[in-house]
Amino acid sequence: MPQIAVIGGGLVGLSTALCLLDSLPQCPVTIISEAFSPNTTGDVAAGCLIPHTYPDTPVQQQKEWFKETFDHLFKIAISPEASIAGVSLLSGFRSRGGMVQTQRVNNVWDLHGKYDIIVNCSGIGSRDLFGDTSLYPVKGQVVQVHAPWLTHFIRDGDGSTYIYPGRSSTTLGGTRQKHNWKLLPDEKTSKEILNRCSALEPSLQGSRVVQEKVGLRPVRSSIRLEKEMIVRNGHRLPVVHNYGHGGGGFSVHIGTAKAATRLVEELLNVLNDITKSKL
Ligand SMILES: Cc1cc2nc3c(=O)[nH]c(=O)nc-3n(C[C@H](O)[C@H](O)[C@H](O)COP(=O)(O)OP(=O)(O)OC[C@H]3O[C@@H](n4cnc5c(N)ncnc54)[C@H](O)[C@@H]3O)c2cc1C
Ligand SMILES: *[C@@H]1O[C@H](CO)[C@@H](O)[C@H](O)[C@H]1NC(C)=O
Ligand SMILES: *[C@@H]1O[C@H](CO)[C@@H](O)[C@H](O)[C@H]1NC(C)=O
Repeated sequence: MPQIAVIGGGLVGLSTALCLLDSLPQCPVTIISEAFSPNTTGDVAAGCLIPHTYPDTPVQQQKEWFKETFDHLFKIAISPEASIAGVSLLSGFRSRGGMVQTQRVNNVWDLHGKYDIIVNCSGIGSRDLFGDTSLYPVKGQVVQVHAPWLTHFIRDGDGSTYIYPGRSSTTLGGTRQKHNWKLLPDEKTSKEILNRCSALEPSLQGSRVVQEKVGLRPVRSSIRLEKEMIVRNGHRLPVVHNYGHGGGGFSVHIGTAKAATRLVEELLNVLNDITKSKL
């Protein structure tokens, strides 16, 4: 059976790996990732479904990904399991036979021979791993506070200031700092965020800070969703790329996971034909 490795255990990698298990139950799937939740970009995000534009991805395509994601999450939201949903995609992946390795991949060729197809969901990590210099980080900082009395979200016009009440804390944001790679929260920025949010919602003044968090949005002019056959010394390694979700990963992740899975299926057909022609 062809072995599939998914690089990246963030929102995009996990949703893609789960979709692969659904569509290709016969293929073993391993997620290889340096970090897992709670240390991924998605753990910083409030996770709001807002259409986010990727200038170089056809609008029709973006609408389809968004709709598939919305429909999927809405079905969960109105189901009896809604209150426990989304707690852990990772435990769901494991319980269904998916394998997980905590490890950094320095060179994709290290996986050659062990895996037949590589799925690249490494977010901003793709810049180094695949040399994609069109990808850059947009740093986002949030402050999580204890404010259980808030039940409605507030978002200012362009989304630079927002208050999202969540299950265990309320997320206050935010920032968009292009090309900033620093994963540490900045104290002055946190104060600024608290001031901006308190101006919108005065009851936040004096609320207890639970945690400050930083994430790097993997920004690109389009999401990269495509197959690539990389070749070295006559060896071939089929790769499916699924990265560059920028500030809108939550909003489209189910749609892009399905699209990546279809590309893996196409590659499997090619591998099958090669095997047959050798017999
Ligand atoms: C402050 C903030 C607010 C946001 N708000 C929203 C929102 O409201 N709505 C929305 O839709 N989106 C939002 N986003 C965007 C969303 O969070 C991202 O688009 C999404 O999380 C990206 O997911 P990912 O899986 O591609 O990346 P990541 O979560 O970064 O996952 C990449 C994974 O790959 C691993 N990796 C990378 N390189 C390697 C390597 N060489 N070897 C092994 N592993 C590697 C990393 O360890 C990581 O686990 C927000 C982002 C931020 C920062
Ligand atoms: C998340 O990061 C912290 C701090 O680096 C670390 O102690 C913890 O083990 C990490 N968690 C996971 C699941 O990787
Ligand atoms: C993922 O794609 C990016 C962009 O091409 C690249 O830099 C990175 O090396 C890729 N990762 C793997 C493991 O192939």
